[in-house]
Amino acid sequence: MAIGAKITGWGSAVPEKIVKNSDFEGRLETSDQWIVERTGIRERRWGGTTTSLAVEAGAAAIKSAGLSPSEIDLVILSTTTPDQTTPATSSVVSHLIGTSGGAFDLNAACAGYVYAMVVGHAMVATGVNKKVLVIGSDTLSKITDMEDRGTAILFADGAGAVVLESSERDDFLGSELGVDGAAQPILYCDHGSYLRMEGREVFKKAVRVMVESAEIAMKKAGITADDISLCVPHQANLRIIESACKRLGIPIEKAAVCLDKYGNTSSGSVPLALADAADNGRLSNGDLVLFSGFGAGMTWASSVVRWQASK
Ligand code: UT7
Repeated sequence: MAIGAKITGWGSAVPEKIVKNSDFEGRLETSDQWIVERTGIRERRWGGTTTSLAVEAGAAAIKSAGLSPSEIDLVILSTTTPDQTTPATSSVVSHLIGTSGGAFDLNAACAGYVYAMVVGHAMVATGVNKKVLVIGSDTLSKITDMEDRGTAILFADGAGAVVLESSERDDFLGSELGVDGAAQPILYCDHGSYLRMEGREVFKKAVRVMVESAEIAMKKAGITADDISLCVPHQANLRIIESACKRLGIPIEKAAVCLDKYGNTSSGSVPLALADAADNGRLSNGDLVLFSGFGAGMTWASSVVRWQASK
């Protein structure tokens, strides 16, 4: 019997503290109007730890799947901002949630969550694990230079999670992962320092890699853009999402967007957007969802998944 994987639950978590665009005015040479027009972001959340946000989102996903924590036999935590160099943040998260089996962190920057889902699928599909909790959690405010208007307005804190369970029918229809290490200088963070970014360069490359990788994933899945019910992109900039959707032939109304409320939360962004769409009834069982992420590296990842987690 072939083994596949399906998504059976989802959850999310954001810190309480809301930082509005107007909070930057006066302190930095910027304005609410510039930020909204150039990025689509209106407010973001700062606070918490990568561990605390991951625990809240992970526990919510397990509850939504109707499972108890001990039934989970693997935790994969995508993060760029682990709370300690070692141990992996996932070890403490797994202890606090009460999961069984193994746990590890995965770092592929802002593409990390889609990478983690694809790896989680592989663990289930090869029979190594049966119930995998895939969390994305980041606290980018810790590594953002609050004096730099090019990044301070973008980056934020948040987490999201899904549960993957083994299934006779495989809902992961086609995936693609990629990296171009030659692009390292355009977005990086040295140890003990802050994120440095050449925004315009990242923007141009982001649109290109998102489109190329989404097209490969759809081709592998044997579908076209017309078959996609919901596109869940990395939440970096509304103009990147609009431009990529246009080139892919996916109407912007089919994109899940929550960056207006949460900014760019790196690993948190794709699962936060998924949870936001699912919580708002935008997903029906049988829908095909296109996940697509890109980030420092430069990394990218796309996956087409059939949704059947709505109860
Ligand atoms: O998670 C993955 C990684 N990150 C991304 O995907 C980010 C991708 N890049 C972007 O989202 C955009 O490039 C930014 C939002 C970062 C910048 O927007 P842009 O439209 O590409 O602006 P720009 O970098 O071309 O800069 C245009 C002007 C510059 O001024 P001059 O040189 O024309 O005088 C900037 O200094 O806008 C200036 N600027 C700002 N002005 C007001 C840059 N940041 C700000 C700001 N407020 N916060």
